Amino acid sequence: MAEPKENVLMEKITSLCKRRGFIFQSSEIYGGIQGFWDYGPLGAELKRNVKELWWSTMTRMRDDVVGLEATIIMHPAIWRASGHVDTFSDPMCDCLLTKKRFRADQIEFQSGNAYHYAGAKDTATGKEVVEPYAVLLAAGKPPESARKTAAQFYAQRGLQTVELIGETVAKVENSQRFNPENGSLLTPPVPFNLMFKTYVGPTATEADVAYLRPETAQAIFAQFKNVHETSRQKVPFGVAQMGKAFRNEVTPRNYTFRSREFEQMEREFFIKPDEAVEAVTAAVATPAAKGHPGEPQPNWGWQLWHQYWVEERIKFYEGIGLPRTTLEEYWQKPEELAHYARACVDILFKFPFGTQELEGIAARSDFDLSQHERCSGKAMGIFDEELRTAFGKLPPQKQTELKDRYYAARLKYLTKMGVSAAEAGAAAQEDADGLAKGQYIPHVIEPSAGVDRLILALLANAFTEVTETDAKGKSETRVVLRFHPRVAPIKVAVLPLLKNKPELAAKARAIFESLRGHMMAFHDEAGSIGRRYARQDEAGTPFCVTVDFETFEGIKDGPQAGVKDTVTIRHRDDGKQERIATSELLPWLLVRVK
Ligand code: GAP
Repeated sequence: MAEPKENVLMEKITSLCKRRGFIFQSSEIYGGIQGFWDYGPLGAELKRNVKELWWSTMTRMRDDVVGLEATIIMHPAIWRASGHVDTFSDPMCDCLLTKKRFRADQIEFQSGNAYHYAGAKDTATGKEVVEPYAVLLAAGKPPESARKTAAQFYAQRGLQTVELIGETVAKVENSQRFNPENGSLLTPPVPFNLMFKTYVGPTATEADVAYLRPETAQAIFAQFKNVHETSRQKVPFGVAQMGKAFRNEVTPRNYTFRSREFEQMEREFFIKPDEAVEAVTAAVATPAAKGHPGEPQPNWGWQLWHQYWVEERIKFYEGIGLPRTTLEEYWQKPEELAHYARACVDILFKFPFGTQELEGIAARSDFDLSQHERCSGKAMGIFDEELRTAFGKLPPQKQTELKDRYYAARLKYLTKMGVSAAEAGAAAQEDADGLAKGQYIPHVIEPSAGVDRLILALLANAFTEVTETDAKGKSETRVVLRFHPRVAPIKVAVLPLLKNKPELAAKARAIFESLRGHMMAFHDEAGSIGRRYARQDEAGTPFCVTVDFETFEGIKDGPQAGVKDTVTIRHRDDGKQERIATSELLPWLLVRVK
């Protein structure tokens, strides 16, 4: 059967990435290690550009976001409070025949006839193995192949001349209990915690267990008070962090898409609870329409802030070259949401292997800070003078209404976390009284993106094959990576037309030296100019600057005939060339690549 088209495309992308030094398998010389990837020279530049663009757009260019750089290993209590120790797991099962491991929820649904066996006997020795086993066959397949698979299973248990016992056949519809590759029964799913464990200190006992962070977000919550106190920010404001995260994925797959070590770019944007917004502004604004809601306003509640961040994040992706047509929004259904979440939107990208998540934007209520307050015993709330003043001026009926609503929300959270009814009631009452005095635990909107998935999306989006036919009718297909200049690993390549003309070579080198302090530039003298252009197209370099004879002798024809010290700029995507003065080159490039 022909390979699906999308896999052919992924193969082309992965082979280009290796050949041109974007991505290598980690530890390749020892056979590799599944779920770990290294970025080569071009990949490292691409990644650095993506992270810098995220950081500057989401942090430096905003008045209301500050940064954080926390450790990868943190106190294990953080992961107990966040719920990761108890619930950060995937269901896992193994093939009873081959021992191959699967994520139980990702197994494709299958239908057919299941051949069940009660056990088997060795006809030579009389030894019996009483262990149930089953094999699923697609309808119409001869039972012999099920029996052969079952015989292999029992042979692994020490039987040599296998006689199967108690064969029964049952129709199966949409089952995930069988290995899709060989029909063998799988073990029942068991939860598998995805956090990597390690030990802090030399004794390596259970008391020293710590975890490699599975997300960067929790450090932001844990450091919320320090950041709030030192940054002089007022709610609403955000804290951004990017860095490594680790998940012991059961089945890493789709190249770098699901890795065991990867990088995240996360931000917690802290907002007032809606009751506080209502107290201060009289009414919480509700979303009027889909799309970007415009500049943030004091009367925005969580819904508008959430919508705002969804749109801002899509704007970011468009700004680095992922057209909106390549993206989709998936609004999680109420039954898919975590119990504390108000809403969650996944931004999906149309990868060659399917439309999959690039980033999640969750409205997480005040769950995370509340958890850290309860588990650490340290107050995570803030005091808001504007709220205290406004609350005091509200009519008593409005005060009661807002306090009641806040009380109900806090009670719901505390009860859900298993706090006894009496304690939860008293604590919720204290919180509601606190609101009237200007105190609350901030709610949060969390846009959480993966660097590696974005790199893969950019590569897939940029990958283009161009077929050209020469004068003799010979066709050649080559790859052009159409990266947006802002993310392209190399921004400009400076090339002398001919290597063996010292004045051309020296001028090209001098231009390269003048540019490299401002952007990633590349200097290449080797090979024909056509081959050098092609090499740069494959690396995704948007502009090639060529130093030729007219640079010295003056432009030959046209209105600028005779003008010296000019170079040609060749555009990657259409091959068009234009000539500009060398002195204008740097500003010309800067406006296009930054
Ligand atoms: N703090 C929220 C959080 O971590 P998530 O949906 O589990 O949410 C956020 O992860 C983003 O991190 C994902 O949208 C994805 O881009 C990236 N990501 C998650 N697991 C990944 C993995 N195993 N490999 C690569 N990227 C991953």
